[in-house]
Amino acid sequence: MAQQATAQIGVTGLAVMGRNLARNLARNGFTVAVHNRSPQRTRSLIAEHGDEGSFVPSESLADFVASLERPRAVIVMVKAGAPTDAVIDELVPLLEEGDIVVDCGNAHFADTRRREEALRGHGLHFVGTGVSGGEEGALRGPSIMPGGSVESYRKLGPIFEKIAAQVDGVPCCRHIGPDGAGHFVKMVHNGIEYADMQLIAEAYDLLRAGLSASPAEIAEIFREWNGGELESFLIEITADVLGHTDAATGRPFVDIVLDQAEQKGTGRWTVQSALDLGIPITGIAEATFARSLSGHADQRAAARRAFPDAGEKWQVDDRETFVEDVRRALLASKIVAYAQGFDHIRAGSREYDWDIDLGGTATIWRGGCIIRARFLDRIREAYDAEPELATLLVAPWFADRVNAGVPGWRRVVADAARAGVPTPAFSSSLAYFDALRAERLPAALIQGLRDDFGAHTYHRVDRDGSFHTRWAGDRSEVEA
Ligand code: 6PG
Repeated sequence: MAQQATAQIGVTGLAVMGRNLARNLARNGFTVAVHNRSPQRTRSLIAEHGDEGSFVPSESLADFVASLERPRAVIVMVKAGAPTDAVIDELVPLLEEGDIVVDCGNAHFADTRRREEALRGHGLHFVGTGVSGGEEGALRGPSIMPGGSVESYRKLGPIFEKIAAQVDGVPCCRHIGPDGAGHFVKMVHNGIEYADMQLIAEAYDLLRAGLSASPAEIAEIFREWNGGELESFLIEITADVLGHTDAATGRPFVDIVLDQAEQKGTGRWTVQSALDLGIPITGIAEATFARSLSGHADQRAAARRAFPDAGEKWQVDDRETFVEDVRRALLASKIVAYAQGFDHIRAGSREYDWDIDLGGTATIWRGGCIIRARFLDRIREAYDAEPELATLLVAPWFADRVNAGVPGWRRVVADAARAGVPTPAFSSSLAYFDALRAERLPAALIQGLRDDFGAHTYHRVDRDGSFHTRWAGDRSEVEA
């Protein structure tokens, strides 16, 4: 018997993220078609959660497609890369003009651009959609970043805005821009997530070294910080993780975890893209490299043997001032990371003609996503007030925090260097800030060197034009 087309949206790929998204859709009153390559997953979803809403399960992709109202909207929730292409290839012949394929995985935006173009050729919409918030977010309200056509958003918008997290009655979902814009913004979100976590980790390390405090004591400090300007999901869960005791050994959990951070690759993609676009996202890059350094166990062991004493013994005299210095340094470095991330989004938007609204992006990161934080409201305000803002650092609220934080930031970075405690993200963010505000940079010398060995020419501060000095000859200057 032919399937009746009753479902408003479908999800294929029912691993935990797909399953939770499908449940979220059903709980919000949508009729959801569900399908998985191995039908066991579909059956268990229905057996365990079928009573949460209206599901239409199918065991074949053809039945799944037939169960959808037109224009059909199919969410693909499988692994990024080849598995996504395989599902799309199977879906396309079953769909009709105007139907919509939504990829909610962490795809690379360049893949999304390629797929969007290919499906457009078939009269189909392809919507690369960033979804943040992990498993819980998918179920209870994620932050959703859809790219693709305006037309596809007419169908998807009301559905996604309903299942997204809501902050002050505003959904954490909006149309980001055409083709790969949604996945690009999600990629940068993850880059900021890397920087945010690295900064938190450095703050913890500093507190532990400087105060000789236990993880449980440091958990308390984070809990306190979470009541102020730093309030955010990541600070909140830092307190949880630091406060946790390993049941097997009775030791602090953080001490029994191998100190080698892993990554699935979105941080790396962010840095690669920033290099291509010429945007100095130093905080995100340091965070990504810090993860990679942590994994080089052999080199670390060799260096530990060769240099057993990393620095001076660290004795913090004034505990209160030190904790406040670290808090301010963390906030200032975090502002740098967000400023760089938003610069990156602006550059991507210009390069690919996406017309991304920066204030709007900050709005949908206020809830649901991993980097949700109180100060995203301030970012929204800053870009809404001045969309062409040179850098977030100079917006009044942020400039005030940075100015107030600078003395402590310098003390913390200098003390850490003396004590041999690595703070790649804190110190590179401070260097970025100092470089941005410098009257003159030594880049002038670099230009001189380039001209000397390669006749690459330079510009002068006092005249227009390109110049070259005859370094090997009489050192006279010629206009190039
Ligand atoms: C999110 C997260 C998520 C990401 C994990 C793991 O926004 O919900 O960014 O998409 O996959 O955080 O990322 P790494 O393995 O690269 O740390």
